Amino acid sequence: MNSLDEYRIELTQKLTETIVVKEPDQLYGPISYILSLGGKRLRPILTLMTCDFFGTDLKKAMNAALAVELFHNFSLIHDDIMDNAPLRRGKETVHEKWDLNTGILSGDAMLILAYQFFESYEPLLFRDLAKLFSKTALQVCEGQQYDVDFETRDDVTLSEYIKMIDYKTAVLIGAAMKMGAIVAEASEECRDNIYVFGRNLGIAFQLQDDYLDAFGNPENFGKQTGGDILSNKKTFLYLTALENSSQEQAEELVHLFSVSPKDPSDKIERVKQIFETSGASEATKEEITKYTHLANDVLEKIDIPEEKRDALRSFGNSLMARTV
Ligand code: IPE
Ligand code: IPE
Ligand code: MG
Ligand code: MG
Ligand code: MG
Repeated sequence: MNSLDEYRIELTQKLTETIVVKEPDQLYGPISYILSLGGKRLRPILTLMTCDFFGTDLKKAMNAALAVELFHNFSLIHDDIMDNAPLRRGKETVHEKWDLNTGILSGDAMLILAYQFFESYEPLLFRDLAKLFSKTALQVCEGQQYDVDFETRDDVTLSEYIKMIDYKTAVLIGAAMKMGAIVAEASEECRDNIYVFGRNLGIAFQLQDDYLDAFGNPENFGKQTGGDILSNKKTFLYLTALENSSQEQAEELVHLFSVSPKDPSDKIERVKQIFETSGASEATKEEITKYTHLANDVLEKIDIPEEKRDALRSFGNSLMARTV
C-alpha cells in the first residue's frame, strides 16, 4: 500500500466517524449520501501531505482536511443544481435523488459543518485557517457565478476563462495545501509558495476536468459526458476551437452553442468533432502540461527534502493521466 492510500483510508475513516446521520433525516441523509460516494479525496489528501512534508504530524491537519472535503462536497451539491447534472460519482445527484430544496439546505448545512471543523484549533491557527477559508469560499462563489454568466455570453476571452477556473477550482486546491502548511507552522514564504503550486495544479486540474467532460469514458467518468456542451460552457476547448477554426466552422460552432435541441446527441457529437479537427483538444492537453510544469517550477523554491519535492511532483504529474 503506498502512502497516498494510507492518507485516503485514514481520512475516509474520520469522515464516516464524524458525519453521523441524525434527525431530520432529510437534512443529514443527503450529506452522508454524497460523502459515501467517495471521490478522489484530492484536496484533503493534499492538506495532509503538505502538513506531513513540512515536518508536522499529519493528524494535526486532519480537521482542516475534513473541512476542505466537506466544503468541496457542499460545492458539488450546489454545482450539480446549477449545472442541471443528473450524475455524480456514478450515482444520482442529490437534487435528482431528493429534490432541489433538499440539495440547497443540505449543501448549506455542509458549509456550516465545514467551518465547525476549524473550532478545534487554538486561536492563532483558527484565525489563519478561517481567514483563508472565508476568502477562498467567496472566490469559489465568484468563479461559479462567472461560469454561469459565461454560458450566455459570446465574447468570453481565454484569459477570462482562466480566471474563472482559477476561482471556481484552483484557489481551493491552493488553499487546501496552504492549510497544511499553516498547521505545520511553515514560514510565510513556504505557505505562499505551496499555495501558488496548488493553484497552478488546480488550473491544470480543471482544464483536465473540462477535457474529460467532453472526451472521458462514460463507463468510469462518473458524470454525464457532454454536459458542458449541453450547457454551452465556454471552456478552453470551445474558445480555442473558435480561435483556430475557419470562419464557416466558427459560425457553425457558435450556432451549435446557441441551440438546445430535444435530442442533443448530434450537437454533442458535432461539437466534439470540431474540438478534435480544430486542434482544440490537443491544445487543451498542452495547456494542462503547461500549468503542471508551472506548478513544478514553484516547487523548486520550497525548502523541503528532495524526496518530498519528488513526491509532490509525481503526484501533480499523475493527475495529468487521470480518467476520472
Ligand atoms: C470535481 O472535483 C469538481 C471540480 C472542481 C472539477 P473532483 O474531480 O475532485 O471530484 P471528486 O471529489 O473526486 O468526486
Ligand atoms: C465545478 O466545476 C467547480 C465547483 C464545484 C466549485 P464543474 O461544474 O466543471 O465540476 P463538475 O464537472 O460538475 O464536477
Ligand atoms: Mg458541474
Ligand atoms: Mg459547474
Ligand atoms: Mg466539469
